[in-house]
Amino acid sequence: MALWGGRFSESPADSVFALSRSVQFDWRLAPYDIVSSIAHLDVLESSGLLPKADCMQIRSALTNLFNEVKGGKFLPSPIDEDVHSALERGLTEKIGAVGSAIRAGRSRNDQVTTDLKLYLIDNMLDIAKSVLHLQEALLAKSMEYVDAIAPGFTHLQHAQPISFGHELAKHAVSLERDLSRISDWMVRTSTSPLGSGALSGSSLPISPEITAKRLGFNSVAQNSIDAVSDRDYVAEALFIIAMIGLHLSRIGEEWSIWSTTEFGWAQLDDAYSTGSSIMPQKKNPDVAELARGKAGRFIGNLTGLLTVLKGLPFAYNRDLQEDKEMLFDSVENLLLLLPPLSGMIATTNFNREKMRMAAPLGFTLATEIADYLVRKGVTFAEAHDAAGQCVKVAESRNCELHELTATDLKSAHLELVNDVLKLLNVEVAIAARTTSNGTAPKSVVLQIAKLRSNSILTTKWVDAEIQKFIGTMTL
Ligand code: ARG
Repeated sequence: MALWGGRFSESPADSVFALSRSVQFDWRLAPYDIVSSIAHLDVLESSGLLPKADCMQIRSALTNLFNEVKGGKFLPSPIDEDVHSALERGLTEKIGAVGSAIRAGRSRNDQVTTDLKLYLIDNMLDIAKSVLHLQEALLAKSMEYVDAIAPGFTHLQHAQPISFGHELAKHAVSLERDLSRISDWMVRTSTSPLGSGALSGSSLPISPEITAKRLGFNSVAQNSIDAVSDRDYVAEALFIIAMIGLHLSRIGEEWSIWSTTEFGWAQLDDAYSTGSSIMPQKKNPDVAELARGKAGRFIGNLTGLLTVLKGLPFAYNRDLQEDKEMLFDSVENLLLLLPPLSGMIATTNFNREKMRMAAPLGFTLATEIADYLVRKGVTFAEAHDAAGQCVKVAESRNCELHELTATDLKSAHLELVNDVLKLLNVEVAIAARTTSNGTAPKSVVLQIAKLRSNSILTTKWVDAEIQKFIGTMTL
């Protein structure tokens, strides 16, 4: 049903209708649209603008419509332009022309951005919940492998030995930052655009403060022109999703490489891997690969929206309708990806023996020699040089650093004596790195405990916000 037309003598051409139609994707906003309509109806009623009897009739029709939408019984039809017009059709089909009284003091411009904010708050909370599960899977694995030893890498070359739990826990830290981004975003997003009208506010005695409160927003948007034009919260959400996606892509890359025959570190559970249609022996890390691949679309959607917003005149322009598909795509794909990724992580077995064997290879203990000399008062430049000499000799002789003779050590540096050899052991090297952020298992256990206690606090926050939001969505 059209929400305009009085000044036109013709309806839009079919091609124009097809171009501007959005109901095929913005139908996702239907429940939020109805809830915000009811909040708007409340202020129309309390301001005395609409007769109480009409308000009661509209409220009960909207409530029925809400249940029908939720139950899939009311659906958009081919004649509906967008979610707002489809729902108005639903309303007037139930109670006739009185239903359209609800449009007083409101425009689709403030309505659509209010709906979108509610949709996003709802979905960002679900994303936070799912990220917390992923974080928990990572922390449990970190704890399981805190005393497993592996080579750590820089430039994809063996660098220094590390606790494998430390290696896994680092992902929980980047996810912790993502979760804090979501909570910061919530604070900034919690302003209500309703009452901004088309762009200039409303001359009717409706109180935006009341609708804001009813919809669970912390405050009313400050400037009606900004409020109907602002899509910062969409861009920021797309950034947060892209950032989470980027973090997941790095997890995906590690799992893919660790499960190669060359590495042979990770063994994926059958339920979280896939086969090949032609090669019967294959077991592929598709979940990890999709985690890596989906980052592409998340970044694309963010870039797409920023490009739509760049240089856009104020206030509402139809360009803004282009915010939705990119947003829905990112939200839905991230929600699709997180659970199997958590499952894959939780069910992976790592080969401790293989990782332990690889840990000293590539002279990963050379830094121990340099640090030993520094402790003896040698400058780091000189110590670095001496350790480099040791590597050179070991390499030429095709042996490990701990196999060097007393003479080899002495010729690298006079201060290098046999007691350095006991340091050339991966367990010892790791246990020595006891800084609070270091790789000593003792330190890693404390890091994991801290991440866990933060994740408990975040879970409490998310659960409270979800409860609050359920309240907003309850009629
Ligand atoms: N479908 C539109 C959108 O998503 C709703 C707002 C339409 N407003 C307008 N002035 N035409 O942006």
